[in-house]
Amino acid sequence: MSLLRTKNVEQMIAASAANTGLQKTMGPLDLTFLGIGAIVGTGIFVLTGTGAVAAGPALTISFIIAALACGFAALAYAEFASTIPVAGSIYTYAYATLGELIAWLIGWDLLLEYGLAISAVAVGWSGYFQSLLSGFGITLPALLSAAPGTVPGQLALFNLPAFLVVMAIAAVLSIGVRESTRINNLMVIVKISIVLLVIVVGAFHVKPTNWQPFMPMGWTGTLSAAAVMFFAFIGFDSVSSAAEEVKNPKRDLPIGIIASLGACAVMYVAVAAVVTGIVPYQQFMDVGHPVSMALQVAGEKWVAGFVDLGAVFGMLTVILVMSYGQTRILFAMSRDGLLPPALSKIHPRYKTPFFATWLVGLFFGLIAALVPLKALAELTNIGTLAAFSMVSLAVLILRRTHPELPRAFRCPGVPFLPIFSVLFCVFLMLQLQLSTWIAFIAWLAVGLLIYFGYSRHHAKLAQTD
Ligand code: ALA
Repeated sequence: MSLLRTKNVEQMIAASAANTGLQKTMGPLDLTFLGIGAIVGTGIFVLTGTGAVAAGPALTISFIIAALACGFAALAYAEFASTIPVAGSIYTYAYATLGELIAWLIGWDLLLEYGLAISAVAVGWSGYFQSLLSGFGITLPALLSAAPGTVPGQLALFNLPAFLVVMAIAAVLSIGVRESTRINNLMVIVKISIVLLVIVVGAFHVKPTNWQPFMPMGWTGTLSAAAVMFFAFIGFDSVSSAAEEVKNPKRDLPIGIIASLGACAVMYVAVAAVVTGIVPYQQFMDVGHPVSMALQVAGEKWVAGFVDLGAVFGMLTVILVMSYGQTRILFAMSRDGLLPPALSKIHPRYKTPFFATWLVGLFFGLIAALVPLKALAELTNIGTLAAFSMVSLAVLILRRTHPELPRAFRCPGVPFLPIFSVLFCVFLMLQLQLSTWIAFIAWLAVGLLIYFGYSRHHAKLAQTD
């Protein structure tokens, strides 16, 4: 029965209202920016080309499908975040509803999602950064430029820029959330400006004939592109991980989640329409910087240069927010006794989980340096889709087990909308490769070993059994 033990929801809410050691500094605008900071990155700047080749101009539809899948999950997230505003995201929600074993598996899954997203975006960042450097005539030795086996005909060993960028972000985060939030807000403004520039300048160069045929690969291509472009929306859920550092979580968390997702969906559809309107979609094959490439084709060399720079900034904020979410989930799991106590130790001066922040940086920085991007991105997607399914399911369960809890935000269309959301996520998961499924199942198996070997016996809840 201990596998099914749940935390007491009322106690959790009361405990989060008391001072937990983390500073409460964030408002709704900070949260929306935190969300946009996590969302706009490698997906729109790098994967747009892959998506365009798969779907053609119907990439706009793929973006809408991916946004809908996230939107349904976002409504469930918002209900949870406004009902149980404690650090740890869906892991915490699951601990209150589905029992300890499922909560552990979800937490473990989230560590994979956030961690590999950090690594994947760092690799994308490294590519753009090296392209910027080459503009100044600087070229890194191949040995230190990429993961082993990823540069055809050359010996590559270690992606040094990817490693260093993750470590730099760890340094920023470890000295405090207030400073990090300010840096994040600034970078998000830069990023939104760049995206708007692409849309406004690019719109003048669109040739509507490029939008014909609109759906060259039919629905098959459009749906498979949706499964890839899903990556571009990952990150809004990190807003809910910040619950304990928000001034008025019941009101601000739903605003932050829904506003950031909606704003990104509108920008993505516009960017997709513009780039496929400028360049015939076949020409995006194997292009690592499709958005700036479209502007170069349009003859807007200066704007293209700004886009490269903006992409470098944009990806920085994604790594920042993902690392933030990652350490907060570690914090919550460790505080519950499921992971060693060192991971929830708060630094006396900086008031941050200092050790956990550096540990995450080092581990996923090394993965970024050594593993190819494609493998990282696919695994990130499967982990996220699994987590999204669980959160929709958990909304249904909490409505039954705790109907009386005050909910500042209620997910509409219960039970149909959450059920549809689960089916939607599973459908997208089925579009992913077998190797991704195998790696995902292996990660969960390691998680189970740790749970039965350590966490089960050290859980705080075990002391009350
Ligand atoms: N949504 C994030 C990105 O596209 C993960 O980089």
